[in-house]
Amino acid sequence: MSNSKKMWDGRFESGMAQSMIDLSFSLAFDQELIEEDIQGSIAHGKGLVESGVLTEEEYSQIVSGLQGILADYKNGVALWNDGDEDVHMAVERVLTERIGQLGKKIHTGRSRNDQVSTDFKLYMRHRAEEILVLEKNLANTLLELSKKYIGKIMPGYTHLQQAQPIYFSHYLMSFFFALSRDICRLKNFLALHKELPLGSGAIAGSAFPYRRKQVAKALGFEAPSPNSIDAVSHRDMALEFLADLSIVASTLSRYAEDFVNWSSSEFSFLTLHDAFSSGSSMMPQKKNPDSMELIRGKSGRMIGNYTALFTLVKGAPLSYSRDLQEDKEPVIDSVKTVKVILQVMQEALETATFNFDKMENRMLPALLATDLADLLVESGIPFRDAHHIVGSLVGEAAKQKKEFTELSDEEWENAGVKSPKEIKEKLTFIYSIERRNIEGGTGSKSLQGQFEKAEAFLNSL
Ligand code: ARG
Repeated sequence: MSNSKKMWDGRFESGMAQSMIDLSFSLAFDQELIEEDIQGSIAHGKGLVESGVLTEEEYSQIVSGLQGILADYKNGVALWNDGDEDVHMAVERVLTERIGQLGKKIHTGRSRNDQVSTDFKLYMRHRAEEILVLEKNLANTLLELSKKYIGKIMPGYTHLQQAQPIYFSHYLMSFFFALSRDICRLKNFLALHKELPLGSGAIAGSAFPYRRKQVAKALGFEAPSPNSIDAVSHRDMALEFLADLSIVASTLSRYAEDFVNWSSSEFSFLTLHDAFSSGSSMMPQKKNPDSMELIRGKSGRMIGNYTALFTLVKGAPLSYSRDLQEDKEPVIDSVKTVKVILQVMQEALETATFNFDKMENRMLPALLATDLADLLVESGIPFRDAHHIVGSLVGEAAKQKKEFTELSDEEWENAGVKSPKEIKEKLTFIYSIERRNIEGGTGSKSLQGQFEKAEAFLNSL
């Protein structure tokens, strides 16, 4: 049994078993919340001054004690000892050692339940702001690259089969707009979760007169939470945060998957900078797109974090149960992971070489099959018939091991195409692309519209 003195040892005769310590101590991971814990305590102390529990003089001693602890922590000063269960109790212990009995007053009218809830909400709000900056940086890079490479063409794929010609910029802008929704999701998240738990106590609300509105404001929350049971029990904010982070990770993962393919010699569309690749310990010729593979891999881990938290909270009885302590690690892990994959995706794209010659050379004439059908429709042939005519040309070409554009004019005529010469001349990749200037299409006018929308979006943030 451990002999360390616990904060609740008035009630207990024995210390904690070592195995229980191993199971329950959370300082190793929840010290990540130290900044928010100290901000929370400073605002809480102010609330206690306004309710007459602390004098101004006592408050300022507490504040400088807390600020000193934070500064020391950041400077790598060893603060913790083996008896410290979590960051909240560790900070209070160090404070009391430094400023004496007064340190014991800071927990007045507060339970670790509303304290943890508050710290964790603050932590998620702060990290969401930082993640938003990284998302915006990536969005900016995507827009810049799209503008820089305007006019470059590539095969567009469905089912990983060449489907229709597109501008490369159209592809990159698809990434931009997906990411813009990831940005909106985090902004919506920030707009929803802005109520302060402090003042809720353990479950029933603090019994001290406590100016919750002022404390809320001081911490950047909009209002006090309306129900103390709800405030200490629920982890829907964390769930939503992990869902939002998992979704942005899955966005990155899908593009990473394409970039892995594009890096293969079969595609050769993309050469990642050496700084974002690695070699093989055995095969000297290898340069592997590990950055993209890891982005894809990390997204799996983040979905795991989300699933872990969801499983954890769904059956925990109200209000607080210790199960809820398990909410921190998945969130902290996903925050670190999403930050690094956003940063790597942005830097890897900024430094990558896109091989436009390869993209163009790989384009198969069959990419124009839909356009031929469309042209036949314009000449008055019903779409189903036009589809059939082009299908028979493509089938015939396959039999002859040719492209359908290589069949003779006569063969085209026999299949039902009038004036094949004119049509063949018209049928180029750029023609196909520029026929698609409908809003959202791949044509250059549509792309200009996309750039304007993208700029307006970034300016609105
Ligand atoms: N470390 C704990 C957590 O994060 C603190 C809360 C403990 N509360 C309690 N009533 N035992 O959940």
